[in-house]
Amino acid sequence: MRKLTTEELRQSKMTRMAYASQPKNKVILLLDGIQSSHNIGAFVRLADAFLIEKVIICNAPNLNPKKLTKTSIGTQKWVEIQQEVNAVDVTKKLKSKGYFIASIELCKTSINYLTANYSQQPTVLVLGSEKYGVSEELIQLSDMLIHIQMFGMGNSMNVSSAGAIVLADLISKATWLK
Ligand SMILES: C[S@@+](CC[C@H](N)C(=O)[O-])C[C@H]1O[C@@H](n2cnc3c(N)ncnc32)[C@H](O)[C@@H]1O
Repeated sequence: MRKLTTEELRQSKMTRMAYASQPKNKVILLLDGIQSSHNIGAFVRLADAFLIEKVIICNAPNLNPKKLTKTSIGTQKWVEIQQEVNAVDVTKKLKSKGYFIASIELCKTSINYLTANYSQQPTVLVLGSEKYGVSEELIQLSDMLIHIQMFGMGNSMNVSSAGAIVLADLISKATWLK
């Protein structure tokens, strides 16, 4: 047994032209006030890995493109990134276009991600800021609230880790993406 080499990994990639015409998975990551450019870069890398529609970065006035590029490992070239100020307005617009809004947050009424059902499409996954979490207005606008059970002593995990767990689960469950 051995790991695949970088060359072997590259050989399985489509061409740039094929990529450009490749339909994306109808999932949006909406980042509500996430401040760390490294965390945002990690989300961009995730968005590329799961070939999702786009990443909407809301309320991140100090976004540092160099740091984002570093953690996204250059994948920002392939991912649609939209920068916005007001997450509530953006979410209302997406809702009116038929998007299902699933906020990832530990709430009184949130469900364990393992039991989440993504029968609806397209879907927006909302993640909250490192300090304050998903805003109360966005919680109220959400169609579903999802949490990842915390077994240890910490109250929460890194926001991009939480996003990776739920996004991977969504992609594996959502038959409408296949
Ligand atoms: C570090 S947490 C925010 C903690 C913040 N002190 C608070 O009071 O909400 C940042 C974000 O990561 C996500 N997150 C982290 N751990 C989570 C978990 N166990 N379940 C669901 N979301 C989680 C949520 O989107 C949250 O808004």
